[in-house]
Amino acid sequence: MYMAEQGFGEDMVHHPKDPDGLHLCALSGDETIGALAAYVYEPGAPELTHLELPKVDGLSVQIGKRLEEAPYRGALISEQLGTSMMLQISESLRPVRFFLTVRGTHRRLIDRYARRGFVRHADIGSGADAVTVMTIEGAAAMEKLYVEYRALGKRSMHNGTRIAVPSLVPFLADTDREHLLAGDLLGAENIYLDPLPRKEELPRLAAQSRLMAAEQRPRLMATAFPPPPASLLDVGTGPGDALAAVAKEPPFSGYRIRGVEPSPDLRATARSAFPQLDVRRGTAYATGEPDASHDVVMASFLFIHLRSPDLALREMWRVLRPGGLLYVVDVNDDTFTGPDEIRRMVEMHDHYYPGDRTILTDLPRRAGEFGFELENHFATTVRNTGDSEPVFGQDEIVLRLREGWGLLAFMRSQETTAKLFEEAQKHYFRTQCELSLGIETQVYRKPAAQPDEQLQHLEKCSASRAAPAES
Ligand SMILES: C[S@@+](CC[C@H](N)C(=O)[O-])C[C@H]1O[C@@H](n2cnc3c(N)ncnc32)[C@H](O)[C@@H]1O
Repeated sequence: MYMAEQGFGEDMVHHPKDPDGLHLCALSGDETIGALAAYVYEPGAPELTHLELPKVDGLSVQIGKRLEEAPYRGALISEQLGTSMMLQISESLRPVRFFLTVRGTHRRLIDRYARRGFVRHADIGSGADAVTVMTIEGAAAMEKLYVEYRALGKRSMHNGTRIAVPSLVPFLADTDREHLLAGDLLGAENIYLDPLPRKEELPRLAAQSRLMAAEQRPRLMATAFPPPPASLLDVGTGPGDALAAVAKEPPFSGYRIRGVEPSPDLRATARSAFPQLDVRRGTAYATGEPDASHDVVMASFLFIHLRSPDLALREMWRVLRPGGLLYVVDVNDDTFTGPDEIRRMVEMHDHYYPGDRTILTDLPRRAGEFGFELENHFATTVRNTGDSEPVFGQDEIVLRLREGWGLLAFMRSQETTAKLFEEAQKHYFRTQCELSLGIETQVYRKPAAQPDEQLQHLEKCSASRAAPAES
């Protein structure tokens, strides 16, 4: 009925590419009330040649089969599904091109996509079959589109109109399309390090690690970590200060501790400063660790710097043993309080930053998609109203004004924020205004194997034991 209502012809419903498409439908009871599809093409796919699209080095994604505009029920729902689909594809597949075909008469749609940055590429066919092909490609245009969709997604999350759709990552992996996921591509970029001057960042990180060691002590003691002998993997170890401090805490006595870090520089720094630490090459998307090899995975100030939290969650789930813990510590800019002059800078920084300094707001939902259960959630507010050394209270750290600015000082390094940064900094020291920012600790458990899974595992083991040895 929905298809008829939309005017979708037989050729569109039974399209030869349909089985390969990614389809998102919203249902009310048994009835479809919104639907959206996307098609992923690898380089050289005949469909691209047919539409006269030049070769590109990476995935091309077609949005919809043939876009139509009609005032129909579920238009807003379909728009929400579209935003979510675009975001998920951008984060986890990292295509180099989006394109769409619009039926020739739908001028308003053509204009709408042109405003989003799509370029009219070709007009194909004639009469009732005429379509306009629109594309968007190139790193800068793709990034701009992603940032715009992300802002739309956040707006709907904050005003409560978002429709949370299932993650594409497990869906693609479970349907033999894992090769489309962009773990390697994502692992090759480091959005945290790229814009930062190391000379300033490393001392800032060392100071942050000292603060966090004190803040974390009661959090670690309040968490039910698996007893030793056990193993902890720290993802994104950086220069090692934070991991070295954690390794000394009582819950980890008797643990085997290992870190993975993608930056060769930071690995070298960590190894020379803390020779006792085992720090290896690896990323959040590909740690290089075997399946179910760790009891605890730690991600400290990592998730805010990841473009695809879902791909990282999947990798963390893979390396954790059933019953193991994912321990996440990060800042959350959604908790910022302070004057508008500074809020504007924070919002501008976060709008353009390719990572997401508010990801902790959405992480429980995302982690739930992979089966993680949120077991503990601690929140600490960092304030700038102190007049001495840092003071640690119940769920609170109080810093002096100057150190308080250190919470945001790195925002200077982003070009788009530079001007607002200067104004915000002047305002801060002139008015000595109060501000605060939250740091959250979220502890997730990978549930212990269910009885029937255990049975399957035992059956597999006994079958392999019973099998004759290969000669
Ligand atoms: C803010 S530092 C945090 C370092 C340390 N975990 C701590 O708590 O102080 C972020 C770290 O994540 C690393 N990183 C960036 N992208 C990563 C990725 N895709 N996978 C793993 N680590 C990554 C950076 O190189 C850097 O060492």
